[in-house]
Amino acid sequence: MPSPILEAIEQRRSIRNFTEQTVDINALYDIIQAGVWAPSGLNNQPWRFAIITDAPIRAKMAEQTTYGHIVLGAPALIAVYLDREAMYDELKDAQSAGACIQNMLLAAEALDLGAVWLGQILKNREKVDQILGLAGNLELMAVIAIGHPSRRDQQSQRKPLAEFIVKEL
Ligand SMILES: Cc1cc2nc3c(=O)[nH]c(=O)nc-3n(C[C@H](O)[C@H](O)[C@H](O)COP(=O)(O)O)c2cc1C
Repeated sequence: MPSPILEAIEQRRSIRNFTEQTVDINALYDIIQAGVWAPSGLNNQPWRFAIITDAPIRAKMAEQTTYGHIVLGAPALIAVYLDREAMYDELKDAQSAGACIQNMLLAAEALDLGAVWLGQILKNREKVDQILGLAGNLELMAVIAIGHPSRRDQQSQRKPLAEFIVKEL
C-alpha cells in the first residue's frame, strides 16, 4: 500500500525559486509547529525560531551568504536556533535541530509551499545574530527560506542503497 508519508519524504525537493506572493503567517506557524513535533533528547525541545518577512532585514541576511539570491527571492525566512540553556548534549541537540528542520521542510511541502535549508550562512552566524538582534544563549543552526515555488520540476538523485548499508548481519 502506498504511504503518503513515504511519498512526501521522497518527493520533497529543495526549492530555491519563489514567486513574489507572501506567505501567510499561519502557514509559518504551522511549519514551526511541525518542527517542534520532532523528537529531541530527553524531550528537551531546545529549538527556537526567528520569523523574518521584513524586506530590509531579508536584504541584510542575503549579504551573509553566497546563496543571497535565494534569501532575497524568498518572501519568508525562519532562522532555527538552539537555546544553550535548554541544551544537554552538543551532538544530540544538533541532531534534534536536524530532525526539527526536516519536519519543517516536509510541512512546507504539505502546505503547497517550497523551502530550502540554508547552512552556508552559518559562516556568518554572528552577523546574522546581530541583524536579528539575537545573541547570548542562542546558537544558529540553519536558515530556512520559504515561499510559493515558481517551478516544481526540481530533480535530485540519491546513490543506490547498497552504497550506504555497511553491514547486514
Ligand atoms: C546541512 C545542510 C546545509 C545546506 N545548505 C544549503 C545552502 O547553504 N544552500 C543551498 O542552496 N542548499 C543547501 N542545502 C540543501 C542541499 O543542497 C540539498 O538538500 C541537497 O542538494 C539535496 O537536494 P534535495 O533537498 O532537493 O533532495 C543544505 C542542506 C543541508 C542538509
